[in-house]
Amino acid sequence: MCGIVGYIGKQPCVDLLIGGLRRLEYRGYDSAGVAIMDGGTTRILRSQGKLNNLTKLVAQEKPVGTLGIGHTRWATHGRPSEQNAHPHKYGSAAVVHNGIIENHAQLRSQLQSAGHKFSSETDTEIVAHLIDDEIKAGKGAEAAVRATLAKLEGAYAICVLIDGVSDTMIAARHDAPLIVGVGDGENYVASDVPAILNLTRDMIFLEEGEIATVTTEQIAISDLAGNPIDRPPQRILWDAMMAEKGGHKHFMLKEIHEQPRAVTDTIRDRLSPSKADAYIDGFEADPANVRKLFLVACGTSWHAALVGKFLIESLAKIPVEVDLGSEFRYRDPLVTDSDLFVAISQSGETADTLAALREAKRKGARVLSVVNVVGSTISRESDGTVYTHAGPEIGVASTKAFTTQLSALILLAIHLGRRSGALDEARAGELITDLLQIPEQMKSVLDHEATINVIARRYATARDFLYLGRGINYPIALEGALKLKEISYIHAEGYPAGEMKHGPIALIDEQMPVIVLAPRGSGYEKIISNLSEVRAREGKVIAIASRGDASIGDLVDDLIQIPDVRPELQPLLTVLPLQLLAYRIADIRGTDVDQPRNLAKSVTVE
Ligand code: M6R
Repeated sequence: MCGIVGYIGKQPCVDLLIGGLRRLEYRGYDSAGVAIMDGGTTRILRSQGKLNNLTKLVAQEKPVGTLGIGHTRWATHGRPSEQNAHPHKYGSAAVVHNGIIENHAQLRSQLQSAGHKFSSETDTEIVAHLIDDEIKAGKGAEAAVRATLAKLEGAYAICVLIDGVSDTMIAARHDAPLIVGVGDGENYVASDVPAILNLTRDMIFLEEGEIATVTTEQIAISDLAGNPIDRPPQRILWDAMMAEKGGHKHFMLKEIHEQPRAVTDTIRDRLSPSKADAYIDGFEADPANVRKLFLVACGTSWHAALVGKFLIESLAKIPVEVDLGSEFRYRDPLVTDSDLFVAISQSGETADTLAALREAKRKGARVLSVVNVVGSTISRESDGTVYTHAGPEIGVASTKAFTTQLSALILLAIHLGRRSGALDEARAGELITDLLQIPEQMKSVLDHEATINVIARRYATARDFLYLGRGINYPIALEGALKLKEISYIHAEGYPAGEMKHGPIALIDEQMPVIVLAPRGSGYEKIISNLSEVRAREGKVIAIASRGDASIGDLVDDLIQIPDVRPELQPLLTVLPLQLLAYRIADIRGTDVDQPRNLAKSVTVE
């Protein structure tokens, strides 16, 4: 979850490193640092807190050099402090690291017994000590890193500079993402694509257990045993501008408004209205051979999986189990080689989802993934990937990734339904026609931001919120509550509306705003009863309802209307006001919307 960037070339590198770290800051932002090679020795500059602190330090200190590495941290071992910030230097070796070295305590005590003194509480520092020992024992830079990696257990992406080796940086990965960018007379290392997309579009994705030895002219990749690996770069078509704020106050707001475009890009070219069918590029599933589907994900992506269960069971009539990545492999799941495992992940790097995928593969399941980041580990380890074409999502709170995941799951449900015979041509045709209208309908919801702003002002000081939904909109209640929690720090709970009477109803009084998802469809009457139960206890009801529902306005305190669409498509619209509401409330409360406290965009630790 930390961010790594590295540069080797002819340009002064400090501003390039800071620029890369700025784009990686969403991965962690409790401290940051750089190591710049200056006259054969690395100079380390680090500061606690956000990147601006490091920027000020760098402006003061003016480090010079054309080879450097940088890091933005999300603390795992050792509290956020300057001392624990990366790069860590010991002797000749300066190291930045993302991941967790699981055997760090044992290695640390071995090193301490040999007389090593540590200056931080991190697991990373031991890597610098081990490399320096190997250098002192006479190994060259690459050999020293290779020998060190052989001693490490756990997950790492590292980038290393060695004093006296002014023409090389060494990068390596195991269970944490790392890419090498290919330039002209200069090369780069980064945790992800957007960090260096302004510098190059040609990227080499390192695989597990690979080392890249990078000079200005060469990128030599090898495995841990030293066998050379030939891997051509991939051209990334994302536009660097897509990773900028585009005039919006926050990335999150920009990304909310990008959803009509993102959904269009995700469904376009994958639907055939004339054949009433949907296509999954490079993956043909035969439902006759699929006993069960497992949809596995974390956080917001897990909410998409819950919607996916409704869609696939209703349209394809195949049983679906939904699991959290962090739970799946610890319960010895009954997966067989007749099952299809679907991993859903924006980043494609979430450690828990990846571990679940590996467990399913080990048990023989076929693996499909729904992923946004091209070339990410989850996509590379899958038998097929439905890319969500959301473009880079920078705001920590996921928005456009979610609606594009929903879109991809609708495609999958249609694809499976047409092949299982459960979805006839007429119904599939109607669904596809309606799905193609969704981007315009999304725009019409987003155009009513002003109504949501008024509601946000009214409830911004509330202490708690309850979100209620039924059926396919129950996961949207969970998602609405998660959005509010993570960016405004208000306690919020999502609940299936029918469960309210089994406990949460005790919380309701005149202080409690309750958001009720009440679009037309099956379960509508029941949800009206639920919101009446809230009103009877003085709770404040904010309803998301279908346009044209003439009666609901009298039953609620605040009303947000959305176009009247079939239930399968409702989540694509009902979630939008909830994203905007969370955003506005957080903005009013003055929180750091794009980088909320304690969170990171890509959770690459278990
Ligand atoms: O990259 P992923 O989709 O695998 O990430 C999963 C969660 O970490 C992520 O959805 C998280 O819950 C977001 N902060 C939600 O807004």
